[in-house]
Amino acid sequence: MQPTDIAPRDRLIVALDLPGVGPAEAMIARLGDSVTFYKIGYQLAYAGGLPLVRQLASMGKKVFADLKLHDIGNTVARGVESVASLGATFLTVHAYPQTMKAAVEARAGSGLKILAVTVLTSYDDGDLHAAGYRLGVADLVEARAQQAQVLGVDGLVCSPEEAAALRKIVGHRMDLVTPGIRPAGSATGDQKRIMTPAKAIAAGADYLVVGRPVLEAADPRAAADAIVAEIAQSVG
Ligand code: C5P
Repeated sequence: MQPTDIAPRDRLIVALDLPGVGPAEAMIARLGDSVTFYKIGYQLAYAGGLPLVRQLASMGKKVFADLKLHDIGNTVARGVESVASLGATFLTVHAYPQTMKAAVEARAGSGLKILAVTVLTSYDDGDLHAAGYRLGVADLVEARAQQAQVLGVDGLVCSPEEAAALRKIVGHRMDLVTPGIRPAGSATGDQKRIMTPAKAIAAGADYLVVGRPVLEAADPRAAADAIVAEIAQSVG
């Protein structure tokens, strides 16, 4: 993706980390046209939120289904076809070669893009070692990014700190999507490796995933607008 191809507002993905369809619909109504792209993850999806993908798509919004699929190839492929039929724009899978290959083949002909999660940002070298891996985080992220690219995966989810290094590896052929975004002055919460919207864009991110700084703001719409303004300044 060329950095200037995406409008600043379309680079903000608001994570609908809410306990049910009612609160999610209320937040979507409140945000109105200030947000064009939403992420639905485990919490909302498992609380009856998957039909919102189709609903949001019919409203002209884009949806990132953050379902982090990983199973035998056939099961992944059938799951990807179902998510594609809902009208989602992005779907995450874990970056295992068999899983990525099945997902890429199954999304062919649909508007769905597959994003690979290289290494979860809550993992450090010790966690990988405990899980039986030889490589540390940096090496495994790099190896998986390269595999993802070879297999035709459309993009990567990464921490903003990893974005610059990954951009060098994958060039502009893949979308880089970064959570861990905190506008200056907002609460960090449990995120450890954070960046401001402007810095993340400057580091090479195409899309920023933001949850609590928008959802918990006194005025969520103003918070979203402020992030979009910061993105616009950063892309020039
Ligand atoms: O509230 P906050 O802005 O921290 O939300 C970030 C969103 O991005 C959450 O939905 C979280 O699950 C997701 N995410 C993340 N780190 C990753 C992958 C996804 O924070 N590595």
